[in-house]
Amino acid sequence: MHSLKVEDMFHMAETPLFWVGTFTVASLSLWVLHRLLQGFRIWVLGNGQLLSPKLGRWAVVTGATDGIGKVYAEELARKGFAMMLISRSQDKLDDVARQLEEQYKVETRTIAVDFGLLDIYPKVEAGLAGLEIGVLVNNVGISYPYPEYFLHIPDLDNFITNMINVNMTSVCQMTRLVLPRMVQRSKGVVLNISSASGMYPVPLLTVYSSSKAFVDFFSRGLQEEYKAKGIIVQSVLPFFVATKMTRIRKPTLDKPTPERYVAAELTTIGLQDQTNGYFPHAVMGWLTTVLVPINLVIYFGARMNRAQRTGYLKRRKLRDLGNQSNGKSDRLKSEDSAVVRVPRTAKQHHFLVIPHADNVKTSGEAYEEPRLTCWYGEMLYTCACSAMEANTQWHPLLVTLHSAVEKASGHRFNSLLCNLYMNCKDRIGWHSDEAVLGTQPTIASFSLADMRLFSLCKQSL
Ligand SMILES: NC(=O)c1ccc[n+]([C@@H]2O[C@H](COP(=O)([O-])OP(=O)(O)OC[C@H]3O[C@@H](n4cnc5c(N)ncnc54)[C@H](OP(=O)(O)O)[C@@H]3O)[C@@H](O)[C@H]2O)c1
Repeated sequence: MHSLKVEDMFHMAETPLFWVGTFTVASLSLWVLHRLLQGFRIWVLGNGQLLSPKLGRWAVVTGATDGIGKVYAEELARKGFAMMLISRSQDKLDDVARQLEEQYKVETRTIAVDFGLLDIYPKVEAGLAGLEIGVLVNNVGISYPYPEYFLHIPDLDNFITNMINVNMTSVCQMTRLVLPRMVQRSKGVVLNISSASGMYPVPLLTVYSSSKAFVDFFSRGLQEEYKAKGIIVQSVLPFFVATKMTRIRKPTLDKPTPERYVAAELTTIGLQDQTNGYFPHAVMGWLTTVLVPINLVIYFGARMNRAQRTGYLKRRKLRDLGNQSNGKSDRLKSEDSAVVRVPRTAKQHHFLVIPHADNVKTSGEAYEEPRLTCWYGEMLYTCACSAMEANTQWHPLLVTLHSAVEKASGHRFNSLLCNLYMNCKDRIGWHSDEAVLGTQPTIASFSLADMRLFSLCKQSL
């Protein structure tokens, strides 16, 4: 009796379940089809024809002398817009203006202002007076010199003011100056360059990330306000692009050149109010906002930035120490050349500077570094990106070795590294620990200042 009831219930539910399943599968299929068609429309067909001087004869680009902004200026000039370029340095503005005039035969004007300041807008307003502006690209933006904890940011007070003024105030103020006449003519495009860092909090780039979230929200709100007036406001959120800001020298598929990025982005205008602008970035945007939980994205962002911070600080320390040594060595050389005779060979250069300091890797990779090894000498000893004070109290054995090599080679050396082994162990700490080494240590190897290839251990010594 009981089993019959259950069977009956299943039987009764069969038809509704069938229709719920069918509806779910159909909805999902339609959704996937819609997304595919939308993707095809945006990333394959594009909307490249939308931007033309019919919107207004002039296009205005802020931060137009480098990176993404410069390429926007080039692309808009190629489309026939007369260009108003706004940036900090007049020389660079003149160069870009001349290049655009020669290459695309368009009229150009420039305004040199520092967007870090608040009193520049009357000057900008005067420069824009009377221009029929069809496109405004709010591109100017600055980031951190390196990822850093909020309270450790150098010159924090000015840093905050500057970043807010450049990244946020400029977007609002430029829009205030340009939008009214676009609204009067019922046409115009405003592109606000936010960043993928504005899609979620990015620890150690917190102020930048927040300022870019502001740009994104400002753009999306403004789009809704002025859509009916015929204005397009687009929020552009790139991931990494190979520019001066990111110091990426080798572009890759996911870190494109500004040229490749901007060419792709321009085809999305009018199709997306908020865009990552470039197909691989759109995939990354989808993965990081839809597929991966936000806490995980924040966690990995923090981890990546902490690693970058550590690497940057190590490189900076090395550079500073190298510079100090350089200065010290030069000083010694000029003050008492009889005592410190720096060899005048081609390799001498490598005693004094760290030419590859920017390429120093932090773990597991081979890299070339000048042998500043002056554990016994006037300069610093570097090992695995750490630097130690020079030990000028040479062990008598080393003094003997040093003079013997100088005599035999005819060269003068102001530094010497010996690997001193005891009990079959080689520890850096022992190098200075002469008392432990005793009076007659075994010398397994020694080298006089030179360039050599280092291969770092995962574990620091
Ligand atoms: N590159 C990326 O990976 C990336 C990713 C996401 C978002 N973005 C955003 O894209 C925009 C452009 O970035 P980018 O990488 O092309 O930067 P960039 O290569 O550093 O170029 C920045 C431009 O802005 C100008 N500028 C900087 N500070 C200024 C100031 N205080 N006043 C006036 N002009 C100033 C620079 O002129 P000077 O030469 O005179 O300094 C330069 O023309 C920024 O808003 C950035 O946040 C970039």
